[in-house]
Amino acid sequence: MPTTKVVVNIPGESAYDVRVGAGALDRLGQHVRATAAGGKADRVLVITDSNVAPLYLAQAKRSLAAEGYRVSDITIPAGEDSKSIAVAGEIWEAMAACSLGRDCVVVALGGGVVGDIAGFVGSTYMRGVSVVQVPTTLLAMVDSSVGGKTGVNLSAGKNLVGTFNQPTYVCADINALSTLNEREWACGCAEIAKASVIDSDDFFFWLLDHANQLAARDEGVVQEAIVRSVVFKADVVAQDQTESRGVRECLNYGHTLAHAIEKLSGYGTYSHGAAVAEGMRFAARLAADLLGTPEELVETQDELLDALGLPALSWSASPADMLDAMKRDKKARGGQVRFVLPRDVGNWELVEVSDDILRAHLQQWTASKA
Ligand SMILES: NC(=O)c1ccc[n+]([C@@H]2O[C@H](COP(=O)([O-])OP(=O)(O)OC[C@H]3O[C@@H](n4cnc5c(N)ncnc54)[C@H](O)[C@@H]3O)[C@@H](O)[C@H]2O)c1
Repeated sequence: MPTTKVVVNIPGESAYDVRVGAGALDRLGQHVRATAAGGKADRVLVITDSNVAPLYLAQAKRSLAAEGYRVSDITIPAGEDSKSIAVAGEIWEAMAACSLGRDCVVVALGGGVVGDIAGFVGSTYMRGVSVVQVPTTLLAMVDSSVGGKTGVNLSAGKNLVGTFNQPTYVCADINALSTLNEREWACGCAEIAKASVIDSDDFFFWLLDHANQLAARDEGVVQEAIVRSVVFKADVVAQDQTESRGVRECLNYGHTLAHAIEKLSGYGTYSHGAAVAEGMRFAARLAADLLGTPEELVETQDELLDALGLPALSWSASPADMLDAMKRDKKARGGQVRFVLPRDVGNWELVEVSDDILRAHLQQWTASKA
């Protein structure tokens, strides 16, 4: 099946290609060479993690070397803990030690963790070098590799330091997904489901019709789901690159409850995707109550999430603790919890929900888990 090219065109930024499909990694070198910065560069640094390195680093380096690049690589430990200033510092030092100049290209080969830290390091080293994203998780292909948010975590919270810096090319080779476990697969599916509800009837009902095939990793359906998600994300980012125009917030659908679940259940207990799916179920019910959203949306969204292998969680916490966690979330404003709520598929609103209403809904939610 041929690869698909999506062009991301953000006002004020250079346009870049996202190449989606099987075999794209073998042509990484060629496509990097075709970018403006890659055309002039002769050094490339590949940043990857300890799980991805044994699987895809040699293939990526081979493709880059075939285009005449001198290729170096750095492998960081897999996992969220690597998204730190300490690891960023080690990478900056290593880049300087091997005399990488302003004209080098940084390639981020891995999931969202590698993408975020490599994007951050690349956007700050010598005040910014070209960054190419090679996402290897479904979540990174459909979400984090496109849109230019980079970052590292502080002990006070996730992604508290970072930049907005668009990549110059994104290479999403779906062959790389063959080694991804079910938990990580479902994380990507949750973000695809989120995008479909926010985007349109066309995306949502297509996904509903193909959810079983996506869960079974049918190649054609996987490719189309990624392409549709990338087109959606690129469109949102084109309207609001820096989350200052009230559009990019829509990407937070399902995440308000999810962040509280992840925090109170202990990070890693439930995957981010499982928590986001639960957050979407909660938000749709809140929307039905507050905005008159059709019950049909609540039900079909449940059906979609079930089919994608994202069942309702049996876990819950006390409404008081959940409310407290949500009020402390960095997306809350002045202690007021805000939810992205769907009025209908393809029609959303950012709604400040009063503590009393939220408490009542959390009580219902907790009771439903008993
Ligand atoms: N920048 C953004 O816009 C944005 C958006 C969403 C999420 N994020 C960030 O992305 C991160 C989560 O990304 P993620 O879910 O990809 O996590 P991740 O990068 O930790 O990858 C998940 C796991 O899968 C492994 N892995 C990666 N590719 C693999 C492959 N092909 N085969 C086998 N194993 C593989 C990784 O080593 C890791 O253990 C978070 O830090 C989050 O904050 C950023």
